[in-house]
Amino acid sequence: MKQTAKRGKMMPIGPLMIEHRLIERMLAVARRELERFNREKRLDPAFVRELVDFIRMYADRCHHGKEEDILFRDLAGKELTPELRNITEELISEHKWARGQTRDLAEANERYAGGDESSFVTVLARLNALSEFYPKHIEKEDKHFFLPVMRYFTEEEKQAMLGEGSELDATLIHEKYRRIVEGAEGGAEGGG
Ligand SMILES: [Fe+2]
Ligand SMILES: [Fe+2]
Repeated sequence: MKQTAKRGKMMPIGPLMIEHRLIERMLAVARRELERFNREKRLDPAFVRELVDFIRMYADRCHHGKEEDILFRDLAGKELTPELRNITEELISEHKWARGQTRDLAEANERYAGGDESSFVTVLARLNALSEFYPKHIEKEDKHFFLPVMRYFTEEEKQAMLGEGSELDATLIHEKYRRIVEGAEGGAEGGG
């Protein structure tokens, strides 16, 4: 179909950069909500849950998944400059750090929702950390990493990466809703 000719020009960093824009928008909302929580001296645990879901499913599974399990995996077989190799390692450890912050955020938010007001400050601190982190991490990738690493791949390799990225997207929607059904079948809030 016509679609394939158009796709031929797209690089695997195309979808990654588009995803960055949505992550930035969500984190801008998080920043605004953080300021509101601060003013009102109370949280909206439902918003924080929604944010945690966005970060886990979209920013981490869908987006970092394409970076780590596809792009970085394929870069491991290339002779990168030491500088690009260093950036790759930094990006991986930043993803790990963000996962930890998100877990702490989710746990503190659930404690707060359960009546523990002392978790308020933890939630604010994690929201602040994550909303400062993402724009910097994204800028590092957009401005100093994505384009230089594309030079290491043939057209064929790039198309294969794009295809794998689409497959990942396709599996995630099923995974997400299967989890929701399983959670609902299990009854109360628990799980994760
Ligand atoms: Fe990343
Ligand atoms: Fe990214």
